[in-house]
Amino acid sequence: MSSSVLIASNRGPVSFAIAEDGSLTMARGAGGLVSGLTEAVKGTDALWICAAISEGDRYAARKAPNGRIDKGGYDITPVRMLDIPPATFDRAYNSVANSTLWYVNHLLYNTSLAPQFDTTFRREWQAYRDYNDAFATALAEEAAPWARVMVQDYHLALTPLMLREQRPDLRIAHFSHTPWAPPEYFSLLPDDVAAEVLTGILGADHAGFLTGRWASAFMDCCEVILGATVDRERRTVRYDKRTTQIGVHPLGVDGEALLARATAPDVESHMAALKDLIGDRKLIVRVDRTELSKNILRGLTAYREFLEKHPEWHGRVVHLAFAYPSRHDLPEYREYTAAVQRCAKEIEDEYATDDWDPIILHVRDDYARSLAAYRLADVLLVNPIRDGMNLVAKEGPILSERCALVLSREAGAAAELGQDSLLVNPFDISGTAAALHEALLLPETERIRRIARLRKASTAMPPRRWFEEQLAALAAR
Ligand code: G6P
Repeated sequence: MSSSVLIASNRGPVSFAIAEDGSLTMARGAGGLVSGLTEAVKGTDALWICAAISEGDRYAARKAPNGRIDKGGYDITPVRMLDIPPATFDRAYNSVANSTLWYVNHLLYNTSLAPQFDTTFRREWQAYRDYNDAFATALAEEAAPWARVMVQDYHLALTPLMLREQRPDLRIAHFSHTPWAPPEYFSLLPDDVAAEVLTGILGADHAGFLTGRWASAFMDCCEVILGATVDRERRTVRYDKRTTQIGVHPLGVDGEALLARATAPDVESHMAALKDLIGDRKLIVRVDRTELSKNILRGLTAYREFLEKHPEWHGRVVHLAFAYPSRHDLPEYREYTAAVQRCAKEIEDEYATDDWDPIILHVRDDYARSLAAYRLADVLLVNPIRDGMNLVAKEGPILSERCALVLSREAGAAAELGQDSLLVNPFDISGTAAALHEALLLPETERIRRIARLRKASTAMPPRRWFEEQLAALAAR
């Protein structure tokens, strides 16, 4: 029992792979949650508890002294990786977190076919409980009296209540990095499961969300599904004789750190190569992990419709699309990546000429290259079906002098950036095609005016402030 600040998340700040010679190699963890949190706790001694995900992680976790993994040369906070049995992890992470809770909160179900909550699901749900319990037990072991514990995301919705039962002295926060579904959609879940998720989070003293919209949806679910008492003005939920404070913390970007990274030599050399490739053509950029919620297929289809309607742009524009692989243990994600590749190929086949590639699709993760692309972009397309925040929309304007932002109105970022973007309905392909055209034609003076405001909004809440604000909210309890 030692740490006074603890973080719990499924994915941790580093991951391990076993090299051919049997040694361990280390890399930074991927995704928005991890990069934001890593920035936020750099240089502190907060203990970060995460799951061992890869074989390499398990190996590292088993040989770790006192559970603390050796973080090599990385400048990160102490880490303990939990070696959860692989079958339990698979059911909790792939089946419940990514195929159920992610689907519900991003409204992704095609309800004529799924979901099907049967006995298989019940087994998966039990695994999700066990996985959440493993986190609660580790946190209870590690936390100093009255410590503050920051539990992250839908993977760990049950942990706050489980932890409170073991350690009532602790001050516990939960943060959702995703959207939250309205009650009529959330109640697709079996009643007891929906109630368990909500009461699990209400085990926290403070439940944080990225925007007021997601916070309101959560409060609506608590009221309608649990019958909890909600005070919308004070943002509190009272249930089972306890009150949870609901917080809105719109995570932003550390502009200086991003600029420093984006002017490093590797990015500069990618920029030179991209400039050679694009020439004086206009550049439309998108950067996503290939998740179903990112709506990459409709984005490509909109670009195709734009080319069809505007032959005057043929030869004068290139769409550079980064679509990094994600969650490829799930067939839906693998199929989606394949569909994205097919669609890009069709556009290529239809429009490419000897000296013009209308679309360049990258499916290999290359952060430096995507930073170079941001710097050169004339238009940044961010069109998720639904997104907690979407940090790409905030990173692009920091790095580009002149890019126009085409942004889905369903991204959390639209609350802060909407006024200075071209907002689109993510399902409206023709509307998105028209917005791409309008963005390309946006006059220079207007771009510069908008960029200044977009930058200000994007850097208003850098990760460290975002984290400290939540710690302060807990300290006041
Ligand atoms: C994105 C979401 C986070 C989520 C993370 C998980 O970054 O915004 O809410 O926690 O994905 O990604 P993973 O690769 O671990 O499934």
